[in-house]
Amino acid sequence: MVSDRGSFSRLGFILAAAGSAVGLGNLWRFPYTVGMNGGGLFVLIYLVAIVVVAYPVLMVEITLGRHTRRNPVGAFDAIRPRSPWRLVGFLGVATGFMILSFYSVVAGWSVGYFFKAITGQFRGMTGETAVEMYEAFTANPWLQILLLAVFIALTVYVISRGVSGGIEKFSKILMPVLFGILLILLLRSLTLRGAGKGIVFYLKPDFSAISFKIVIAAIGQAFFSMSLGMGTMITYGSYISDKENIPGSARWIAFFDTAIAVLAGFIIFPAIFSQGMDPAQGSGVMFNTLPVLFAKMPGGMVVGSFFFLLLSIAALTSTISILEVPVSYFIDEKKWNRKFASVIIGLVALFIGIPSALSTGSVEFFTNLPLLKVSFMDLMGTVWINYSLCVGAFFEAIFLAYIWKKRNAISEIMKGIGRFRAEKAWIIAVSFIIPLVLILIFVGNFF
Ligand code: TRP
Repeated sequence: MVSDRGSFSRLGFILAAAGSAVGLGNLWRFPYTVGMNGGGLFVLIYLVAIVVVAYPVLMVEITLGRHTRRNPVGAFDAIRPRSPWRLVGFLGVATGFMILSFYSVVAGWSVGYFFKAITGQFRGMTGETAVEMYEAFTANPWLQILLLAVFIALTVYVISRGVSGGIEKFSKILMPVLFGILLILLLRSLTLRGAGKGIVFYLKPDFSAISFKIVIAAIGQAFFSMSLGMGTMITYGSYISDKENIPGSARWIAFFDTAIAVLAGFIIFPAIFSQGMDPAQGSGVMFNTLPVLFAKMPGGMVVGSFFFLLLSIAALTSTISILEVPVSYFIDEKKWNRKFASVIIGLVALFIGIPSALSTGSVEFFTNLPLLKVSFMDLMGTVWINYSLCVGAFFEAIFLAYIWKKRNAISEIMKGIGRFRAEKAWIIAVSFIIPLVLILIFVGNFF
């Protein structure tokens, strides 16, 4: 059982954690969520949430993981044996199944778009034809289920081979290459006619639009983007050594993740506005705009193929970190072996993912749920991202500050470093700011 846990090297951890953080959350979900929440104000709240809420929670998770060397359920259990706190861990494991199920649907879209790109299907794309292509693609039920299954199978394959062998290898070259491609896209997008209107939408906050809903969406997105609130970083933290500099590594992870999301906005919004498209159209935004960009640039088919290939790999380094949460739980607590756990959980996630795969036009019921008037996939996003991740992070912070106690957490962090400069700020954030803000927005949203 011990050997089935695995471990990370130092650089391996930053790469794997950044690989977990950077994914569809940055390139697909961030821009459309900005668009649906009115632009600049959302971006501002998001950035504040990263610094004040998400970064401190990232340290909470890594510290809990390294100290206990367990999966999320086991971590709470190790500090408070057989107490109700393990429910927080269970919520994380359940959330892992749920997020994996619909995340893999969209990851399947990036694989599908990779094939569209290399077969030259973006040639001559305009805003209108791109939307038609997207709608035909996402409303094809068998193709959607096939791509979902393929993506889950890939994830299961990597995870069944173990943490360091599987996860580390995939993360190493990805980040710099992805960054390079994004810079090329940025150049193209910023030089489109009408790009300026997109930048204004993206950067200019309209303070009159403030609402609890926007704040919840921003915090939920911050947690989602940095892989927080369900114990992914507890699990990854459980594989690092005592010499690891937790605040330093966390800073890098937060920086990479935020830089890529912000960059994605600078690419998508100019492109949307120069096409005269609606920024609030929802989850199709990235897939509707980028093919047009590729059609309008020299070598666009090559750049486009690379982009969707890298996006698929970025999504894969995220799905493996999601699957690792339930897998580590079944390995540690139920003594399953890694292969068996990965396959079973993958099959369950596939099953749960089918309604999401059919909710983008294939089946009217799932596309437009009765009463709620949203798609099944959007509902899953709201419940498991905006609510479950926030609830998880809330209890993690409370647990660290008041149950495990701050001084124990600090001495865990100090194992790897000589001085922890932001100690006070972190303590204040974890014990007061984060619990208060999360309670306030939940209560506020309720009324
Ligand atoms: N952060 C990833 C992304 O931005 C998704 C992800 C991976 C995730 N692991 C997670 C989200 C754990 C929430 C919790 O695409």
